[in-house]
Amino acid sequence: MLRGKHILLGISGGIAAYKTPYLVRLLTKAGAKVKIVLTESASHFVSPLTLATLSEHPVAADFTFLDEQGQVSWNNHVELGLWADLMIIAPATANTLSKMAQGQSDNLLLVSYLSAKCPIFIAPAMDLDMYKHPTTKSNLKVLEGYGHIVIPAEKGLLASGLSGEGRMAEPQHIVDAILDFFTKPLPLHGKKVVITAGPTYEPIDPVRFIGNRSSGLMGFALAEQAAQMGAKVILISGPTHLEQTHAGVLLTRVETALQMQEAVLEVFSDCDVFIGAAAVADYRPKELATQKIKKGATSISSIALVENPDIIGDLGRIKKNQFLVGFALESHDGLKYAQDKLKKKNLDAIVLNTLEHQGAGFGYETNQISFIHIGQSPVSFPLKSKSEVAIDIWNEILKKL
Ligand code: C5P
Repeated sequence: MLRGKHILLGISGGIAAYKTPYLVRLLTKAGAKVKIVLTESASHFVSPLTLATLSEHPVAADFTFLDEQGQVSWNNHVELGLWADLMIIAPATANTLSKMAQGQSDNLLLVSYLSAKCPIFIAPAMDLDMYKHPTTKSNLKVLEGYGHIVIPAEKGLLASGLSGEGRMAEPQHIVDAILDFFTKPLPLHGKKVVITAGPTYEPIDPVRFIGNRSSGLMGFALAEQAAQMGAKVILISGPTHLEQTHAGVLLTRVETALQMQEAVLEVFSDCDVFIGAAAVADYRPKELATQKIKKGATSISSIALVENPDIIGDLGRIKKNQFLVGFALESHDGLKYAQDKLKKKNLDAIVLNTLEHQGAGFGYETNQISFIHIGQSPVSFPLKSKSEVAIDIWNEILKKL
């Protein structure tokens, strides 16, 4: 969710600095590029080598440094400030807060802060009495007055042995605040989305299964798009070779329809939107042979099947405020069958792909869909890549959220 974002992390000298490597790790894991500037005293609490390794950038600490040729070079703080999409000072000590509020510039962190044109976040950390002190409070007020965002210190055990307010916010809370900042304007911010994707494999014996040709592409594209629009996404996929890289998507891999149903029911109750893009097998073998069935065995001449649960159909019965979207893949009379499914499964909308169109449906990179909201006429779209189709689908869903 922070993919492509440049984050400048300023570390000042407090014991909470020992948590910053973890903060860097979380930021880079979310896709951000991180550069670090630290004060001299910060380098006593956390190793610049650790930070440089984790951020994959040299750490800036002094106004000057020796370059590869042994020449004295200038650390360009203006460039650092301009590079950043966001600067976070964590931990911000009482001393650094006071200097920031005063516009002092006697270290590289402070000049970088003064040169930065991006939003500034501050995560203070200090002993409880220093945090309570009117000077600290008024410095924080001044900084908030400049439009900076203060992530308040948290309560707990402090390095002094005392307990109270003053601990730097946990790295995960800092990352959450940053994510919130970047995703708030996005249309799916605050929404939880559950998507099923891919085929299901219904085992016959330890090596054979009943499956289908679903690639999972459409469901994965819908998940990626929802995450880019700010949603928290849970993607529950049957077997597919596709990888999921967006930090906003939590991927659960399953194999059978029963496993898919179990995973869905675990997360459905508090989701806002559910999309059933999986090609769930309608039937599964009644018995699972524990050993590979031998050629010519009488048991292979027919396989008794039992019906699988209709995952989305069951959700249609228990749904409260969730917006349910199903898929219909039809070879003929698509609109009629899709309308029937929409009503029968108590969905809010359905996406119709017909196998009548060249390049649409299973295994293709492209798809041609009609989107039908309950009680409305279908909206048809031309043949497009599945990621473009995902945008069309989300734009339709957004009309109703
Ligand atoms: O009934 P049919 O399989 O054509 O309906 C397709 C829709 O129902 C899709 O959204 C698919 O993900 C969902 N489905 C399901 N569980 C099943 C079968 C289909 O969730 N067992």
